[in-house]
Amino acid sequence: MTIEASRSTTAFTILDAAHQVLREQSTRLDTLGRVIAQDGQLSDARLARLCRIVATFDTLVPIHTADEEEVLFPAVLSHEPFATGDTTPMELLAHEHGYHERLMLALKHGIARGDPADVAQAAMQLAYQTREHIDKEDGLLFPFARAILADDSETLDALTATMAARHDAAGLPY
Ligand SMILES: [Fe+2]
Ligand SMILES: [Fe+2]
Repeated sequence: MTIEASRSTTAFTILDAAHQVLREQSTRLDTLGRVIAQDGQLSDARLARLCRIVATFDTLVPIHTADEEEVLFPAVLSHEPFATGDTTPMELLAHEHGYHERLMLALKHGIARGDPADVAQAAMQLAYQTREHIDKEDGLLFPFARAILADDSETLDALTATMAARHDAAGLPY
């Protein structure tokens, strides 16, 4: 079943599902990073687990980031009190997206070099930063966005359609 075929889907169920996957993957990444930091071993089994986590991030994060930066954030910015032209929480969140990209690159470089210390450090940092970021979105931005879009079903439907089409095109089940 495609996302579009599900009537109960809204932009927020799509965003929430992505957050749930990223939280789960961050927990796995953090656990793995701690184990590698403890004994300094980067076995083939651990590398395989790391690659599955990296592949999940690489598949979902660009799509989720586009859902936020290109779809949700502009919709929130079109409403008061965020339509001020001043620095907004969305700029901070978008800046953090760039930081996560650099941490993922550091993790990949560590994997490519087979460097346990660098892998452990990047894995724990990326996991921590991802969870902190999602906490901010779930705790602050999304409740506000839900509230303002609750009175604007036309916009919410448009956001949902854009996100659902993007996820369906990528073959993502969430
Ligand atoms: Fe985000
Ligand atoms: Fe997010």
